[in-house]
Amino acid sequence: MKNNEQAPFPSNLLDEDVVRRILESGSPEEIDRLRAMGMDQETFDLYRHFAQLRKVTIEAQLREVAERTEQSPMASDEELSAGTYCEWIEPQARDAVFRLRRKGYGTVNSGFGIENRQTITFDAPYFTETAISDSLRAELTKEGVVIELKPSSISMFFNHPASLLEMKRAWNRIEEALPDLGTPAPPATSGLAIAFRETQSDPEFMRRIAEDMETKGYEEYLNDLGLTEGMLKNKRIVDIGAGTRMFAGHCVRMDITNDVFSVEPNNGTTYPNEERAMGSLWSKEEREKIDGHTIRGTRESLPFQNETMDLMLVHGAMPGTEASFEQETEKMQMEIDHTFAEIIRVLKSGGEARLFPFYTKEYHPYRTPWKEAIDQALDRLSKNSRCSIRIEPVHETYIEGISLPTEMTARIVISKK
Ligand SMILES: C[S@@+](CC[C@H](N)C(=O)[O-])C[C@H]1O[C@@H](n2cnc3c(N)ncnc32)[C@H](O)[C@@H]1O
Repeated sequence: MKNNEQAPFPSNLLDEDVVRRILESGSPEEIDRLRAMGMDQETFDLYRHFAQLRKVTIEAQLREVAERTEQSPMASDEELSAGTYCEWIEPQARDAVFRLRRKGYGTVNSGFGIENRQTITFDAPYFTETAISDSLRAELTKEGVVIELKPSSISMFFNHPASLLEMKRAWNRIEEALPDLGTPAPPATSGLAIAFRETQSDPEFMRRIAEDMETKGYEEYLNDLGLTEGMLKNKRIVDIGAGTRMFAGHCVRMDITNDVFSVEPNNGTTYPNEERAMGSLWSKEEREKIDGHTIRGTRESLPFQNETMDLMLVHGAMPGTEASFEQETEKMQMEIDHTFAEIIRVLKSGGEARLFPFYTKEYHPYRTPWKEAIDQALDRLSKNSRCSIRIEPVHETYIEGISLPTEMTARIVISKK
């Protein structure tokens, strides 16, 4: 092909976006012409690696953001301060960025720069030349990473085709080396960050996501615990480990039943934003009913008289799961035994307890000590002539990265005669 017959080509090969597009997915002609600008093969291959890695990283990130926006649109306090969902921060820099913000460094931008560069930029000149020690620089140089420190930015240049994991580790080492400034960074002030906070605090937005969370949460309870709305009517119910109390909230708001108790040891502290959102849905009367039926307590020592509940629910708050299965066997065992004993004590004759998640024979091997402890506790319970126990499969869950293709989640149903 003669020169004047060549396909139209952007005149400015210094344009970052044009070069990036060619590196990511340029035609052979475009690549040749980029190389003809004086880039040797090794450098070209290196830059191409980063451009392609950036592309797939951002594509995956967009999927993460879409899922987050759909499934859990409420931002945490740290996200509000950063002015973004954590998923909007590229994964290799994400942990370092949030830890730096906690240490007092106001971050503005982070992630892939042009060519082989990774950068975090800041809202103020925090750094002098010595902020990163010579020894850390030397260590990283040995590993093929050159640091460029400016008063309000840190960049890394990789001289080999690094993976995201290597980048993440390098960012984490840099973050660990920087001193804590004593107070967390103030809220980010970019236009995007401000707009993000405005949307998050809009009462309409809050109400929409709160309603969505409440409905989805309630439906999950019904599905996972094998309940229908009819089974809740005219029953005295307790939700043990109630979290945001969305189950009780939905039952009261939708007039399903008012006789539903929430037992929760960490009321108001575990999910403050979500709890606020749930509470924003309640009228004064509904709040009185829900608060009046909320008791700070634990599943191991239930704050109820004997034989007072028709239906006892444990959803996502199984005993023993917070203990280390290997190192805190006694704690795990104790929680399991006390919880089942308490359930049997409080259940009315003819009543039912439903607990989720448990597992059938297919489960991740790491659960073995816990699964065996629950199996033994259920075995002992089944010898009690007043109890019958069923394990009902609920759904398969694919576990990535292990040889078992799936585990089968199940619910435990305990009926008291
Ligand atoms: C994963 S959340 C589940 C919340 C809610 N049941 C749901 O499914 O959305 C687990 C809850 O169990 C609570 N919890 C922790 N230890 C507990 C205990 N000993 N007794 C009862 N609840 C406990 C936690 O505070 C948390 O709210």
